[in-house]
Amino acid sequence: MLNLKEYGIEMWPKEKIVAFRKALLDWYDTNKRDLPWRRTSDPYAIWVSEIMLQQTRVDTVIPYYESFLYRLPTIQDLAQAPEDVILKVWEGLGYYSRVRNMQKAAQQMVSEFNGQFPRTHEEILSLKGIGPYTAGAISSIAFHLAQPAVDGNVMRVLSRLFEVDYDIGLPTNRKIFQAMMEVLIDPERPGDFNQALMDLGSDIESPLNPRPEDSPVKEFSAAFRNGTMDKYPIKAAKKKPLPVFYQGFVIHNEKNQFLIEKNQKAGLLSGFWSFPLIERSEPAKSELNLFEVAEELPIESKKELFQKEYGIEVLWKESSFPMVQHIFSHRKWQIELLEGVVKEADFSPCADKEILWVCPEDFHLYPFAKPQQKMWEAFQTILN
Ligand code: ADE
Repeated sequence: MLNLKEYGIEMWPKEKIVAFRKALLDWYDTNKRDLPWRRTSDPYAIWVSEIMLQQTRVDTVIPYYESFLYRLPTIQDLAQAPEDVILKVWEGLGYYSRVRNMQKAAQQMVSEFNGQFPRTHEEILSLKGIGPYTAGAISSIAFHLAQPAVDGNVMRVLSRLFEVDYDIGLPTNRKIFQAMMEVLIDPERPGDFNQALMDLGSDIESPLNPRPEDSPVKEFSAAFRNGTMDKYPIKAAKKKPLPVFYQGFVIHNEKNQFLIEKNQKAGLLSGFWSFPLIERSEPAKSELNLFEVAEELPIESKKELFQKEYGIEVLWKESSFPMVQHIFSHRKWQIELLEGVVKEADFSPCADKEILWVCPEDFHLYPFAKPQQKMWEAFQTILN
């Protein structure tokens, strides 16, 4: 086990640790958030919640969690679901590799664990898409195993409690917080202990507006005592996402059907449907493109881009759309839209593309990611 003293971290004596657990859990017992995944002991449901919560806020997750379990109530349902269904249940949540990995993990449970959720920490950790945080959360919450669940919230709380001088954004430093948690975690109530720290970290000890004087464990906090709350946690600023420019095409026909295309490329938004999108440039280096604005293309070039790629005859309109922008973790998409109308719907489209004419009433049948939803909203603004 890692020697915390070598990192300049002095853990508390046993009595202080016991007192800390009690203070934290007493507070949790009266203040815990009533969340749907806290009303179940089903490891499958707890797993769904933990994967959703990795990159997404609690309020956003709740309806997704409910509809995921309604649509795919068992490991077997998830293992067998078609791609369109799993993208649909995750539509709008982002970071879609999460749900793809969940499906692979469900298939692993079917093939290696007799269709059951595995019950040991090591086995849980062996599942696709489950790292140390999620394995710790599921092991402790669903199976009452004394395993820490170290996420950003927990690292922030511990940084302040112990004035930890290590950057919580560096993956290599996670082991320090893991070792601290192994000492601190309550072996009687590990799931509640982990979740109490999550609740504390997301509210009273939040990154932006902490209220340290309200903390149930403020007497234990070195940063509170020493007036160094502003300094902790140590965290270097993130790099800005790089802009990428797209030309988008809102093409409709006389039956009020719209042209949509399935993204067949691996990577970002693979498998999702959207209005045709053509990338206009490599991601700009932000220092070379200070204003992060795409150069305006002459309308003739935009039409040509479409014609060359799709070979469909279009009557172009000169409608003026708001620029659509969507920020992913590493990329900022900026989409300029062009509207066109097609007279004949029955053309034979290019063989290498999966494209369809779909009327708006049927859009719900296809997985649409955020950029597509925003393009559709932009189109509505010009109609009104
Ligand atoms: N964030 C991640 N897991 C959570 C949980 N179980 N409860 C509340 N917030 C969380």
